[in-house]
Amino acid sequence: MSTEMIKQLLEALQVSPDNVPLRLHVAQMLLQGFEYVQAEEHYRKVLELQPNNGEAQMGLARTFYQQQKYSAAVVVLEQLENQDPGNFDALLLHCRTLVKENHMNEARDIYQHLLQLNPGFRDDTLDGLFRTAQQGVSLTDMDMEDDEETERLFMLEKPDINFSDVGGMEREKKEIELKIIKPLQFPDLFKAYGKKAGGGILLYGPPGCGKTYLAKATAGQINAEFINVGIHDVLDMWIGNSEKNLHSLFEMARSNKPCVLFFDEVDALGANRTSMRNSGASHLINQFLSEMDGIAADNENVLIIGATNAPWHLDPAFRRPGRFDRIIFVEPPEQQGREEILKIHLKDKPVKDVDYASLAKASAGFSGADLKCVIDVAVEEKLMEALETGSAMPVTQKELAKAVKNHKATTREWFNAARNYALYSNEAGLYDDVLKYLNIKK
Ligand SMILES: Nc1ncnc2c1ncn2[C@@H]1O[C@H](COP(=O)(O)OP(=O)(O)OP(=O)(O)O)[C@@H](O)[C@H]1O
Ligand SMILES: [Mg+2]
Repeated sequence: MSTEMIKQLLEALQVSPDNVPLRLHVAQMLLQGFEYVQAEEHYRKVLELQPNNGEAQMGLARTFYQQQKYSAAVVVLEQLENQDPGNFDALLLHCRTLVKENHMNEARDIYQHLLQLNPGFRDDTLDGLFRTAQQGVSLTDMDMEDDEETERLFMLEKPDINFSDVGGMEREKKEIELKIIKPLQFPDLFKAYGKKAGGGILLYGPPGCGKTYLAKATAGQINAEFINVGIHDVLDMWIGNSEKNLHSLFEMARSNKPCVLFFDEVDALGANRTSMRNSGASHLINQFLSEMDGIAADNENVLIIGATNAPWHLDPAFRRPGRFDRIIFVEPPEQQGREEILKIHLKDKPVKDVDYASLAKASAGFSGADLKCVIDVAVEEKLMEALETGSAMPVTQKELAKAVKNHKATTREWFNAARNYALYSNEAGLYDDVLKYLNIKK
């Protein structure tokens, strides 16, 4: 962003001072350019014209946050939350503000609320903070250098699972094998055909069917490092105005090759670009895309896997060649897969007389997470019994069959939404696999 451009926009504003979209745009550019005092002024002017303009309120709160006017930020954020108690962005910034002010109990409450709103939401920073708080360490001095912060936010791990821990999913595993594993094993051969190891895979499908699990197992399969990035963490980086962090994240992956860089909830980043643009995160998106393209650096052997429940919200720019150019539908396991998943998760538990085949048959539509839940319920029942009778007995078919019967598959709802997209916005056959799963003929 050039100062020249801002100058021109400011001149335009003098001509039409009541142009709210223009003023918001200017304010946002100033915010991005670290000009918080000026940005604040413009957000205030918008609010004079439109006191309930949510974007201006959010922007104002951000400028306050950046200027360390934390109580002022809280006032604005509470207004936003009164208007919409489910305003995720406001709640998240509120949470971080409270952390800065060392109000850890309140921050923890909001954090829990965030998790209720979006059970998939993870935030390593906040997790870490709460743990630190419990240990009584001071939180006042949290500012760190970019790289350090990146390392703190995103951890490298060597997964202890591989494909043998993943039940079923033969099709998914095969695709990953072809796109990710073979190119690593036979780089010369792939090079001879002008192909490089790298690029991205997008996993999509209903919740709990093993996207995250599969990504992790992929890293384990090739003995690679694994970095699990929640897109909300990346968006937080934007709040912290440290886009350099995104770069250091990719750099971290590049210097730990081979590495699987996993982006969870990637739709949050690609979602509905205009709203992202308005919230000022658009150049974060652009930076993400060019890091993915590997324009400035070599992404060879950095394997990028994205996951989403809502691929239809993802901007098509994310699907261009070299980006998430292979899209894999991760569907609920078939009977055989369900049987394997049950066996995998009951492996280390005391069981007796279990008829895996009949349990698998009775649990059509269940996700891997559903099956895990069934096992938990059955184990719990046995545990209660053991507490009462004083003798520990293995889990049997009886408890498991009962738990299966009482559990409702959690994947149905997702298919209700997916069916519509698959039928009516199935460009380039993107959702053919969903139609196939639903037995719908094109
Ligand atoms: N094929 C599978 N084999 C073994 N376990 C599985 C399988 N699929 C899912 N699970 C179990 O279910 C849990 C939930 O799966 P996971 O978190 O990977 O789902 P997800 O698709 O990422 O869901 P979400 O969309 O909610 O993020 C896993 O931690 C794993 O224990
Ligand atoms: Mg997941």
